Amino acid sequence: MAPRWAAAAPFPSAALLLLPLLLAVASAGLSSYFGTKSRYEEVNPYLVQDPLSLGPTAAGSRLPPACAPLQLRAVLRHGTRYPTAGQIRRLGELHARLLRRPAAAACPAAAALAAWQMWYEESLDGRLAPQGRRDMEHLARRLAARFPALFAARRRLVLASSSKHRCLQSSAAFRRGLGPSLSLGGDEVEVQVNDALMRFFDYCAKFVALVEENDAAMCQVTAFKEGPEMRKVLEKVASALCLPVEELNADLVQVAFLTCSYELAIKNVTSPWCSLFSEDDAKVLEYLNDLKQYWKRGYGYDINSRSSCILFQDIFEHLDEAVEESKSSKPISSPLIVQVGHAETLQPLLALMGFFKDDEPLKANNYIKQTHRKFRSGRIVPYAANLVFVLYHCDHAKTSEEEYQVQMLLNEQPLVFLHSNETISTYADLRDYYKDILENCHFKEECELPKINVTAVDEL
Ligand SMILES: *[C@@H]1O[C@H](CO)[C@@H](O)[C@H](O)[C@H]1NC(C)=O
Ligand SMILES: *[C@@H]1O[C@H](CO)[C@@H](O)[C@H](O)[C@H]1NC(C)=O
Ligand SMILES: *[C@@H]1O[C@H](CO)[C@@H](O)[C@H](O)[C@H]1NC(C)=O
Repeated sequence: MAPRWAAAAPFPSAALLLLPLLLAVASAGLSSYFGTKSRYEEVNPYLVQDPLSLGPTAAGSRLPPACAPLQLRAVLRHGTRYPTAGQIRRLGELHARLLRRPAAAACPAAAALAAWQMWYEESLDGRLAPQGRRDMEHLARRLAARFPALFAARRRLVLASSSKHRCLQSSAAFRRGLGPSLSLGGDEVEVQVNDALMRFFDYCAKFVALVEENDAAMCQVTAFKEGPEMRKVLEKVASALCLPVEELNADLVQVAFLTCSYELAIKNVTSPWCSLFSEDDAKVLEYLNDLKQYWKRGYGYDINSRSSCILFQDIFEHLDEAVEESKSSKPISSPLIVQVGHAETLQPLLALMGFFKDDEPLKANNYIKQTHRKFRSGRIVPYAANLVFVLYHCDHAKTSEEEYQVQMLLNEQPLVFLHSNETISTYADLRDYYKDILENCHFKEECELPKINVTAVDEL
């Protein structure tokens, strides 16, 4: 019955007055542990100063002037989004619980959170936030500035997207960022919906049945939620909120941490939710997020990455086509292909190619051992994450073999190829390295459900 500020009113205490200061410190320390809810600026901090900057490494990674880009393919994750309806519902429940509890002087954090305005509505359900539009517009402008020849006026752009609202909105924002001078290949459709390539996971029956809808597949995640590291975080948060620890669980604590990350990404503010967590707590919660990515989208199960071979092959088909057209002096039919999907689109693709693979799997019981792991989702797939393939034609090459070169950029930083440890490769070498995936990975067969009915199999 009492208005929500009533609970906080008796405590204009020193702790509360100090809170903004404490929070400013807290956020700087936590934001590198937000996993898939990380801001793009986390991987490219220079963008905070200037969102159109190409960064300190851009000049150094340029190719010899004899190389001209022929084709650019970008696979993007949508920009900053609102929480999903489920997360908003859980946050509402947690917040309501804090409002119900009697005010206690010992719990300034609980008082601050009770005074926090719950402004998320379920209808926001995963939609693109205004910041997400800016993410995409700025990314488009940076890519255009980096590859002016490809993004020159009247070049043809193929723009495809997942059917999800946030991806369609991201595509439109990317298009706006490029300005009006690019052609769209004559057809009136600005954005082609292509779930077969951007949401391949939905079409892979084996992935859906054995991973997505199979709770047992996430056993490492479940075990970590109940393990000693999470237990410690749970007890700390319960104590800060003056709640009995039985009233909390890993999911509620995770929602509090998510809210800290959402408020920073969406509103550029450090929310009082962040004050519940130390940097060590944040590392534990980041690991929980990475574990889920690892087992659901990464190396945990082969089908996670194998289901992306349909996208991988499409990328190489278009690269092949551009090489062929170049060899026969024809105009390149698809110089620019931009596709907007999800973290769930990019992560499996990167795993298929072998990037960010640790020697040992991420497990519930090797948290300490994985402290310096490569597989950190926040570094790989923050909001607006992007994987860019650039095919070059190089004149004056010593041999024709070297005429076509490829560069890959992840989040605008050159990726080091696994077959050479270089950031540039001949197209032939790259193709050869991935020959097996290109020739032997067939989406339809990979994704077929194994026959679990033994009787039926015997009858075949
Ligand atoms: C976000 O907040 C920081 C610190 O208050 C400020 O320096 C920065 O300019 C803000 N960024 C945006 C995009 O508003
Ligand atoms: C790349 O470098 C790593 C670390 O130095 C090394 O272990 C690996 O063998 C190298 N790979 C190639 C293909 O040279
Ligand atoms: C397995 O197949 C047999 C024969 O087609 C059928 O009678 C049986 O009900 C099936 N069992 C299950 C668990 O689907």
